[in-house]
Amino acid sequence: MLNKKIEDAINAQINAEMWSAYLYLSMSAWCAKTGRPGMANWFEIQFREEQDHARIFFNYVLQRGGEVKLQPIEAVPQEWKSPLDVFESTLAHEQKVTALINNLFALTTAENDYASQSMLKWFIDEQVEEEENAQNMIDNLRMIGDNGYGLFMLDKELAARVYSTPSPLAGK
Ligand SMILES: [Fe+2]
Ligand SMILES: [Fe+2]
Repeated sequence: MLNKKIEDAINAQINAEMWSAYLYLSMSAWCAKTGRPGMANWFEIQFREEQDHARIFFNYVLQRGGEVKLQPIEAVPQEWKSPLDVFESTLAHEQKVTALINNLFALTTAENDYASQSMLKWFIDEQVEEEENAQNMIDNLRMIGDNGYGLFMLDKELAARVYSTPSPLAGK
């Protein structure tokens, strides 16, 4: 059985993950609109991954006999200044999500909830990857600057990104 404090915190995290999904879908639309189909693909996969994160928490609450309470999803930004701006916003957002996951982990420590800690470990590792990916993209874009050919090639590379099911959802 999940304790009430942890149940509430995980429900809040489900909402945060859905907000992330919505943010990345909005970024995907902006990239498509501004003629960057590869970046649009990259963010569309981010969108799917964030929905997966929400589903992992959702399944976990139910598995522990808790109650899922879905809340409204707040509006997300719709405009960015440049591809660099989109990826800088992505990194800043992922850093905030990392802090949320860390706070959740701290709560499970305070409440001696070892099962929740075990579940959260996947998310701690995932956040390291999320921040690294966003940082790599920023590094690439800074190197390319306003070189059109460089941007074209990077967009082509991002078009090749494919979705894969995260391990906690394998077979679900
Ligand atoms: Fe996430
Ligand atoms: Fe994320």
